[in-house]
Amino acid sequence: MKVLYAASEALPFIASGGLADVAGSLPQALRKRLIGARVVMPLYDTISQELKDSMTFITHISVPVAWRRQYCGIFEARAGGVIYYLLDNQYYFKRDRIYGHYDDAERFAFFSRAILEMIPHIGFKPDIIHCNDWQTAMTPVYYSTMYADQPGWENIKTVFTIHNIQYQGVYGMELIGDVLGLQPGTSHLVEYNGCVNLMKGAIETANVVTTVSPSYANEILDPWFSHGLDNILEQRRFKLSGILNGIDVVNYNPETDKNIFANYSAADPSNKAVNKAELQKLFNLPQKPDTPVVGLVSRLVSHKGLDLIKAVMDELLATTDIQVIVLGSGDWQYEQFFKEMAGRYPQQFGLRLGFVPDLARKIYAGSDLFLMPSKSEPCGLSQMVALRYGSIPIVRETGGLKDTITDSGDNKGNGFTFARYNAHDMLNTIRRAVEGYQNKEGWAILVKRAMECNNSWNRSANEYIRLYKNVLKD
Ligand code: GLC
Repeated sequence: MKVLYAASEALPFIASGGLADVAGSLPQALRKRLIGARVVMPLYDTISQELKDSMTFITHISVPVAWRRQYCGIFEARAGGVIYYLLDNQYYFKRDRIYGHYDDAERFAFFSRAILEMIPHIGFKPDIIHCNDWQTAMTPVYYSTMYADQPGWENIKTVFTIHNIQYQGVYGMELIGDVLGLQPGTSHLVEYNGCVNLMKGAIETANVVTTVSPSYANEILDPWFSHGLDNILEQRRFKLSGILNGIDVVNYNPETDKNIFANYSAADPSNKAVNKAELQKLFNLPQKPDTPVVGLVSRLVSHKGLDLIKAVMDELLATTDIQVIVLGSGDWQYEQFFKEMAGRYPQQFGLRLGFVPDLARKIYAGSDLFLMPSKSEPCGLSQMVALRYGSIPIVRETGGLKDTITDSGDNKGNGFTFARYNAHDMLNTIRRAVEGYQNKEGWAILVKRAMECNNSWNRSANEYIRLYKNVLKD
């Protein structure tokens, strides 16, 4: 079976969020199970020169963008044994950041079309094209309306995965003619509520739709979570399912990780204390071994639960012997709030604004607790990485957080959880965790249990293979 995995970001080339982790690790896991998986992504200018130097040019083609045609260079690279195709067009991808441009719809309509156009030129005809999020949502739309019957493109099935339903690719209707270039009579596929909605188009046309945890697959049928798409998903419920993400357990391994201060394992976690002391030093906090350190590594946006944190952080710091370390960037109001906290509590609050993967690992390794009170969380990878590094997650029971973390109140779970989206419920849960931390023996058992949780791709890669096989049977 041959799978072409299409994503707008993938490690090791470029990352802005969890999608890049998934696109960088699931295809490897598929390949280990003898599935011919390859990845296709844009060749962004901001990819490092070293990685660019490792690519080889295959050929160039011209790709229709509505009534125009655009150059598309096809490059190939290898990472972790997987072949990556990187699609080049400097007009679209020579930008300082990967998203957030006035013409994103056109950039990714081009990319979605180029994925199909390149197929006859790469010597790899996929059985499945697995698309991800709105940036590749037009691929199933184009495939079903323009390519399915054409020689060279027959019998391909499309899978569409929703990593976050909040980002749907919603634009004005004027896009239909000059940017999307849809066939007459097919524009209804992408129309929704008087707008163009690219994700809706993929939900309509892909053979199957998945999302990244079973709980989130249920949640998005509810208007509280669906950002307006519950009706469409309800109609297409027969083809919707949730498969939990895994993490790359070789890459995220405290026993071998070169980015942390000292290596350790579940069998001998003693060096975790070294990581904690060094982390405290790095953030100019007093090196107190018995004060619990809570880490927060997150995009600073509302669905990550930052309003809860804003509401009670002051109270928490003022009344508890605790240190909090935050790494992330995002909305101004949260950045501003955290700056204020760092100013007011220099002995307890450490802050670094930015997306710094190496530092994130030092926080996983050096913290005792990891806070993730998301309002919604399709899957979440950080809580799984935190477990692996023995930092005990405090999470709200939603989406993938609910599917990976269970409360340790019964001496079986691997974290601390709360159900309602309520700031004092979160605060009480943090207090419960701090109390648990005081019991040294019990805590050591909990840390070991957390580190031994297995969130590798083993189970989920097999679930994807089952899904691919089923869709090929239809
Ligand atoms: C998105 C989601 C996150 C998920 C990731 C990978 O970033 O917000 O929950 O883990 O995609 O699927």
